[in-house]
Amino acid sequence: MKGKFITLEGCEGAGKSAQCNLLAEYFNKNNIDYILTREPGGTPVAEKIRSIILSPENKGMSYECETLLYAAARADHLSNKIIPALNDGKLVLCDRFLDSSLAYQAYARGLGTETVEKANFFAYENCMPDVTLFLDISPEDAFRRKGGVDKNDRIELEGAEFHMKVYKGYLALAEKYPMRFIKIPCMGNKYQTHDNIVSALKSRGIL
Ligand code: TMP
Repeated sequence: MKGKFITLEGCEGAGKSAQCNLLAEYFNKNNIDYILTREPGGTPVAEKIRSIILSPENKGMSYECETLLYAAARADHLSNKIIPALNDGKLVLCDRFLDSSLAYQAYARGLGTETVEKANFFAYENCMPDVTLFLDISPEDAFRRKGGVDKNDRIELEGAEFHMKVYKGYLALAEKYPMRFIKIPCMGNKYQTHDNIVSALKSRGIL
C-alpha cells in the first residue's frame, strides 16, 4: 500500500473532531491528497451499524455483540474505503480505529486484548495505522474543560469509572506500542494541540 494511514484516538471530549478538522484544513492548504473518515462508520453499511451500536434503545446489548459489531463495521470500512484509498496513494486520517476496541471493549469492558484482537483479526487483515495520535487528556480533565459531558449515546452514558478505565487502557496501549503510538499533550487550546500534532507527524516522517 502506498498511502499513509493515521488514526486519532482519545477519550470522550478529548477534542478529536476539532483536531480532525484542523488537520483536514492543513492538508488542504498543503495540497496533500487525503481522505477523512471515522469509526464506527465511514461507509453506508458501517454508518448503519454505528446507529445500532450507539442507540440508547439497545441498552442491553452484550459486550460480545458490541465488539463484533464494531469489528463488522471496521471490515466494511477497510475493504470499501480505507484500503482502496491507501492503494491510491492517499493519506487516510481516521477518527478512531482498532485501538478504540482495545481501550473500550478489551480494557474497559474487561473482555481482554486477546479476545478483542481475535474478534478483529478477520476485519483488519493486518492493515494497521502507520501512526496513532493519542490525545492525552483524562476524562475528568476533558469534562472540566468542556464544562459538562455529552450523554447522547449508549457509550457516553457509561459512568466516570468506565471512562477512566478507557483512559488507562489507552495509556497501556501507548506503552505497549511505542513505535506506533504518539501521546499528544492537549491541555492547551486546540491550536496548540494542532501544532503538537503537526510537529509529531513531521518528526515521524509522515509529513
Ligand atoms: P465517537 O463518538 O468518537 O464517534 O465514537 C463512538 C463511540 O464508540 C465512542 O464512545 C467510542 C466507542 N467505540 C468503541 O467502544 N469501540 C470502537 O471500536 C470504536 C471505533 C468506538
